[in-house]
Amino acid sequence: MLTLKDQSLLKTRNFIDGEWVAGGAGTIDVTNPANGDLVTKTANGDAADAARAVEAAAEAFKTWSRTPAKQRAVLLRKWFNLLMENAEDLGAIMTAEQGKPLFESIGEIGYGASFIEYYAEECKRYKGDTIPTISNDRRLQTYKQPVGVVGCITPWNFPNAMIGRKAGPALAAGCTIVIKPATETPLSALAMCDLADRAGIPKGVINVVAGSNSREIGKVLTQHEKISKFTFTGSTPVGKKLMEQCSTGVKKVSLELGGNAPFIVFDDADIDAAVADCMGTKFRNCGQTCVCTNRIYVQEGIAGEFTAKLKDAIEALRVGDGFDANTTTGPLVNETAVNDMRAFVEDAASKGAKVLTGGGTHELGHCFFEPTLVTDITGDMRVANEEIFGPIAAVQTFKTEDEVIERANDTEYGLAAYYFTRDVGRVIRVAERLEYGIVCSNSGVFSTEVAPFGGWKQSGIGSEGGKEGIAEYFETKFHSMGGIE
Ligand code: SIN
Repeated sequence: MLTLKDQSLLKTRNFIDGEWVAGGAGTIDVTNPANGDLVTKTANGDAADAARAVEAAAEAFKTWSRTPAKQRAVLLRKWFNLLMENAEDLGAIMTAEQGKPLFESIGEIGYGASFIEYYAEECKRYKGDTIPTISNDRRLQTYKQPVGVVGCITPWNFPNAMIGRKAGPALAAGCTIVIKPATETPLSALAMCDLADRAGIPKGVINVVAGSNSREIGKVLTQHEKISKFTFTGSTPVGKKLMEQCSTGVKKVSLELGGNAPFIVFDDADIDAAVADCMGTKFRNCGQTCVCTNRIYVQEGIAGEFTAKLKDAIEALRVGDGFDANTTTGPLVNETAVNDMRAFVEDAASKGAKVLTGGGTHELGHCFFEPTLVTDITGDMRVANEEIFGPIAAVQTFKTEDEVIERANDTEYGLAAYYFTRDVGRVIRVAERLEYGIVCSNSGVFSTEVAPFGGWKQSGIGSEGGKEGIAEYFETKFHSMGGIE
């Protein structure tokens, strides 16, 4: 039994049109990936629930879109305050359903809330233009108007922050939203929604339809005639299907999809800093983020030292239940993910890779996998090409800057890339040549509400965060005024 300071935050029904409602498809079991225990049963919404939520959001849009930005900002600020005041409970809910260590969950609550705070401020400043006229009898202006009802599907790896990053700018812009959280992690979404309601955000403006039939609900959120925009964070194959569905109604789309992040360490790098940040970006959330380091490239001359230090750091990780204060690394999301990790290691080992530490299911069993280091990676191995999404660090070596840039760019993905060097010229050269939406030099940390997060190539469309993030939720209207003279 999950005990919270405010037990009423543990919601087990969907939130549609300001009401907590049962799901058309019964209930879903929400389980803790650390031990398989049932956290609670929650409403299993279906397509009809999703359609009702879209209708409610369309009705609410009529008023919310005309509510002055300053007033919307006040309500969003209240929502932000409530999220922060309840961060411990929200963190506990997240750890119970997702498994990540409690300190990471509580950190994520602050991260998710920061988007709501930022866009509450930003919406007051977002404006159109007055354009110099082309003849004296005309005046030219643009208006920025909210897109409409937003359909949104969010992932299990960041059950709170990905909602903050989408709902924050959407609501700030004057849009209304229907959220379908991942089947594994509905409770964080429902608790966020409860706090939005307590903040006074009007009924129908924010709706949550959790459900296990993602395909059915996804169809409604991409194809309902009253949906104007669709936003998704998740894998590239699923994103492609959803984008295809959106094409029927020419819905506006933003997609934050998979990554295959290179982490490049040049021989002039501060090796200790590179190891520390490689650990942060590789093992954050047990390796389950789209921007996790995936391919580690180390220049030949320092490969021995870097790998030895990385091995020590990996062996110092403490795997365990996210509620244990000593835990640094929680479980994977499910047993399928554990099997995937095993298959990655077996594939690499069968082609000549060396497993320096880890490599198997953790003694805690269930969804736990040992933090792993594999070296001698070659281009034909799966870890050199596919998104690992788990706690396996795979190290390859390189000789020159040109060579490593070519190898780093040789992927259909383009989300985040990291590199370490103390040569200032190289800092700029490499940033310019990497084909990624986010490049991060001499640091593994970049996520923030004030800057754009988005992928190139098959890693996505559009950006979240910064001024770019709210632009996604506005239409531009050109007003050409004639007969002025
Ligand atoms: C993601 O993995 O998509 C989100 C990571 C982040 O926002 O830092």
